[in-house]
Amino acid sequence: MEKFVDLISQRVSQAFQAAGFEPAFGRVTVSNRPDLCQYQCNGAMPAAKTYHRAPIQIAQAVAAQLEGDPMFAMVSAVNPGFLNLNVSPAFLRDYVAGMAQAERFGVESDPNPRTIVMDYGGPNVAKPLHVGHLRSAIIGESLKRINRYFGNQVIGDIHLGDWGLQMGLIIEEVRERQPELPYFDPAFSGEYPTEAPFTISELEEIYPCASAKSKVDEDFARRAHDATFKLQQGDRGYRAMWEHIMRISVADLKKNYANLNVSFDVWMGESDAQPYIPPMIEDMKAKGITMVSDGALVIPVQEESDSKEVPPCILVKSDGAAIYATTDLATLVQRMQDFRPGKVLYLTDKRQALHFEQVFRAARKAGIVPPETELQHIGFGTMNGKDGKPFKTRAGGVMRLETLIAEITDYIRKKITENQVVDSSEVEDTARLIAMAALKYGDLSNQPTKDYIFDLERFAAFEGNTGPYILYTIVRIKSILAKYPGRVQPDALLAPETKEAADLMLALTRCADSLWQAYRDCAPNAICAYIYELAGAANKFYHETRILTEPDASKQAGYVALMDLTRRVLEACIDLLGFEAPERM
Ligand code: ARG
Repeated sequence: MEKFVDLISQRVSQAFQAAGFEPAFGRVTVSNRPDLCQYQCNGAMPAAKTYHRAPIQIAQAVAAQLEGDPMFAMVSAVNPGFLNLNVSPAFLRDYVAGMAQAERFGVESDPNPRTIVMDYGGPNVAKPLHVGHLRSAIIGESLKRINRYFGNQVIGDIHLGDWGLQMGLIIEEVRERQPELPYFDPAFSGEYPTEAPFTISELEEIYPCASAKSKVDEDFARRAHDATFKLQQGDRGYRAMWEHIMRISVADLKKNYANLNVSFDVWMGESDAQPYIPPMIEDMKAKGITMVSDGALVIPVQEESDSKEVPPCILVKSDGAAIYATTDLATLVQRMQDFRPGKVLYLTDKRQALHFEQVFRAARKAGIVPPETELQHIGFGTMNGKDGKPFKTRAGGVMRLETLIAEITDYIRKKITENQVVDSSEVEDTARLIAMAALKYGDLSNQPTKDYIFDLERFAAFEGNTGPYILYTIVRIKSILAKYPGRVQPDALLAPETKEAADLMLALTRCADSLWQAYRDCAPNAICAYIYELAGAANKFYHETRILTEPDASKQAGYVALMDLTRRVLEACIDLLGFEAPERM
């Protein structure tokens, strides 16, 4: 469906033309004075300069063209030359009824859909997930759903950090604790055990212990380095040990992400890119784009237009090791080969912005991605505590994701238990759903690039600009619908008779604009702002209208249809944000 505001713009543009002016002056926007009118057109002001006439005269001439038009209930030219517009209840009703019957509320999909590889999550194997990984998962999941909604084929890749020094640290620590294991016996040629020599909780204790040790014990650190090198050279025993670490960690990660309602299509990682590195580097050398600098092999990526220094992209360090950037380049080689994406989108903390700039430039120079493939990095801000510093536990440590979710869920559980509207058998599931809404909406309602403060009481409040408030609105509508004895009929919608009904319908017509904005700008916050407005309009309507006690059956059917469409739009929007509503709360 054509967007509502575009339909109005088209009509007003025609009127400009009929009055003898350029139609382009007829662009209409939502009024910034809702007390005066619903829509406005300011085109008479710039037109006045072109045609050397007073803006008010132009506005009046255009208004005359629109007189009696069934699209409008009011067209008025006001000083110095604004056109104030109200749409007619019948026009509004027909548009909203069209939305109710159309697929996806008539929101058009992208006319040029692409294959998009999305790189988000990015946890490091064997290290517990912490809140730093939270934003990547939450924003990534939402953007994946939004991109799909608009018709793109999206491949979500978790891109595990599974090849670094942490692996060598773990292997070396296990060797110290259990030197008798066959993985460490170079003479061993049999089958390695299928059971891992550690559990996930042991693994989570082993890594921090090894990491701390490596900072004070130089010899241990060197041995861990050697172990990493040996693993990367393909040592059979170390490789078998690595596979145990992977299997156990990935199972745990899957559980954690499932709890967050975040999923991935492929579970590839840094290790999968390693075979692509040697041929890639050969190719780069052959192309003559590399050079040796301080013993390291690099690709210079500085461009003339740069106002700041962009250091070269390092491929191989002087000690012969490939680094993070090398792996990201090789991963691009792999992704182009496997998926031929039109776009690769990365989500990490904004402190990695320079890294991606270097990688993207090197990838272009090396011809790894064709010019038509877009590379984009979204660098998000930090989740801070109330002290304005990166969020920590009360003890000052890094807060684990599971702990954070448990804390929010406990808080919500207490609240709904006190309210006593939820059956005790449903308390647990309901608390989880509300907790997810609190956490995700609290994050997504901010612009991704901005830092924000995690504030449990504020995020979990049932009133205000929060996830639970949106859920509460949906639950309230569901309870009205459940009490309505008839069947909901979308075409029962009636032309609005009250301001509240008209405002709710106007809010509904803005659905497509908000979703498009969220899609175009990679900004789930646009959806949050929209559903906050829509929920507000729905609650006002509900307060001012007798719905279940309305004696006129056709009016009642109309109200119910309006409530039901509102619920459907709200539910579609929260689905794009990655959470869902309970039945009661
Ligand atoms: N594992 C990395 C980290 O924890 C994030 C990976 C992001 N993705 C990428 N292709 N570099 O910082």
